[in-house]
Amino acid sequence: MSFRRTTPLYEDPIAVGAFAAMEKGILVSAAAGNRGPESRTLRNGSPWILTVGATTIDRQFSGVVTLGNGASFVGSSLYIGKKTVKNLPLHYSASCGSSDDLKNVTKKVVVCEGADESSVSETSTVADAKGAGALLLTNVSLVIRATNFECPASVLNPKDSAAIRKYVKTSKNPTVSLTFRRTFTGIKPAPTYAEFSSKGPSFGTSSILKPDVVAPGTLILAAYSPNVSAATLQGKSFFSNFTLLSGTSMACPHAAGLAALLKSAHPDWSPAAIWSAMMTTANILDNTGKPIYDGASPIAIGSGEINPNKAMDPGLVYDAGRGDYVKFLCALNLTRAEFQAIARNSSDYDRCKGGNLDLNYPSFISFLDSEQSSGVWRFQRTVTNVGDDGPTTYTAKLTKMKGFSVTVTPLKLTFQRKNQKALFSLTLKVKRPMKDPIVFGFLTWVDDQEKHTVRSPVVATTIRETE
Ligand SMILES: *[C@@H]1O[C@H](CO)[C@@H](O)[C@H](O)[C@H]1NC(C)=O
Ligand SMILES: *[C@@H]1O[C@H](CO)[C@@H](O)[C@H](O)[C@H]1NC(C)=O
Ligand SMILES: *[C@@H]1O[C@H](CO)[C@@H](O)[C@H](O)[C@H]1NC(C)=O
Ligand SMILES: *[C@@H]1O[C@H](CO)[C@@H](O)[C@H](O)[C@H]1NC(C)=O
Ligand SMILES: *[C@@H]1O[C@H](CO)[C@@H](O)[C@H](O)[C@H]1NC(C)=O
Ligand SMILES: *[C@@H]1O[C@H](CO)[C@@H](O)[C@H](O)[C@H]1NC(C)=O
Repeated sequence: MSFRRTTPLYEDPIAVGAFAAMEKGILVSAAAGNRGPESRTLRNGSPWILTVGATTIDRQFSGVVTLGNGASFVGSSLYIGKKTVKNLPLHYSASCGSSDDLKNVTKKVVVCEGADESSVSETSTVADAKGAGALLLTNVSLVIRATNFECPASVLNPKDSAAIRKYVKTSKNPTVSLTFRRTFTGIKPAPTYAEFSSKGPSFGTSSILKPDVVAPGTLILAAYSPNVSAATLQGKSFFSNFTLLSGTSMACPHAAGLAALLKSAHPDWSPAAIWSAMMTTANILDNTGKPIYDGASPIAIGSGEINPNKAMDPGLVYDAGRGDYVKFLCALNLTRAEFQAIARNSSDYDRCKGGNLDLNYPSFISFLDSEQSSGVWRFQRTVTNVGDDGPTTYTAKLTKMKGFSVTVTPLKLTFQRKNQKALFSLTLKVKRPMKDPIVFGFLTWVDDQEKHTVRSPVVATTIRETE
């Protein structure tokens, strides 16, 4: 058994620094990484860190395409120039990557096939060939992150690409007009999992489901260094105090901002209570009402997209503190020096006695072998009532998980007052071997007034952290 060559916790300065921050009651929100969509690419997966992945947002910077036949399509563009395209001929090219394909395109708009993430650079080939513009056609849905649109160009989605392809191939004198600088909001579907966002399971801390949550991370407008190029056009650099960037580094500040908001509303909440509130109230539906989990899973988007208003009043939290993380470290079989690098206290090491990997965490993950047809996982959790004072009862709702039986004991939790705690256990029992590498469901605690829904993903996977 060999581990992926990823930095172990005790050599990871972010894990070590975040442990000290946690001891001081400071929540650390960290980027999950931009090495998706492969699994096991996640970093910053320590249980005392809020690990944040990225989603797309419902905003589109447009390049509006109007064909000679009147049909109009809203593509995406980050072209910053002032050129426009009015009724110019279209020229079809199988590939705009090579200048050989772009002979005689002067004053024509080139239709470029098979655009992918890097295709925006083809706009410089088109510009060099003196083309008037480019339509970048795609076969797969694509989020453009590059800002180097060197000529007027628009990236079309697969459906619109098909219509444009048909037009350019069947029309005798295909023409096009292009307009820019319009921003559309309310784009559907959104949010979706951003393909670049790293996925779990997390190296070294695989007993914890990571990432925890996702937040907006695609083409986010943010303050920027005014002496670093923000965009290029015809080889010229442009500077700005703001720019659009994509990445989980753009997502985790959203979560940090929400954490600050929650801390000011609830000064007595620990970092764990704060991210529990974010996780258990996260959004799992997009703006068409479909689950964000379609085509994604909790190892991509964790508990879902953070929802500030709901996180203010989560009802219940899964709290944890230094003692719990020390017990977690104890279970990792570290040497004294490794342990001390993180916890900085060797008397904790002497008192380890076994430890506990089953942290009081608001999510659940278990690892199986692909042929495994039996086995039982039991998780223990304590929830704290941070809702209203006075009696409340929460009832457990479980979704079905294919090939498993999932049970919770007890099925009802009754609280008499605020800050009261209650214990429960969740049991996952394998009934037959898994067909898919990931099977997941949800445990949701719902109070009797249906005012609070406290949701946790439950994951079973055959994807190991090890290779
Ligand atoms: C480009 O134009 C020239 C002159 O009209 C013509 O001879 C040549 O065949 C054209 N090349 C292509 C690839 O269309
Ligand atoms: C994308 O569409 C073009 C044009 O129909 C086709 O030639 C190409 O094979 C397609 N590629 C994929 C990956 O489907
Ligand atoms: C930008 O300006 C700062 C402050 O003057 C300077 O330290 C830094 O080196 C500059 N960066 C570049 C890329 O010029
Ligand atoms: C950035 O902001 C400063 C202060 O407002 C301003 O002086 C400067 O011109 C701006 N830089 C750019 C590149 O817009
Ligand atoms: C730690 O060691 C014990 C005893 O050898 C073993 O059962 C356990 O799986 C180890 N834990 C980890 C996280 O490697
Ligand atoms: C180390 O941990 C022990 C037990 O938790 C505690 O009593 C002691 O004060 C700690 N020492 C330091 C230097 O933090």
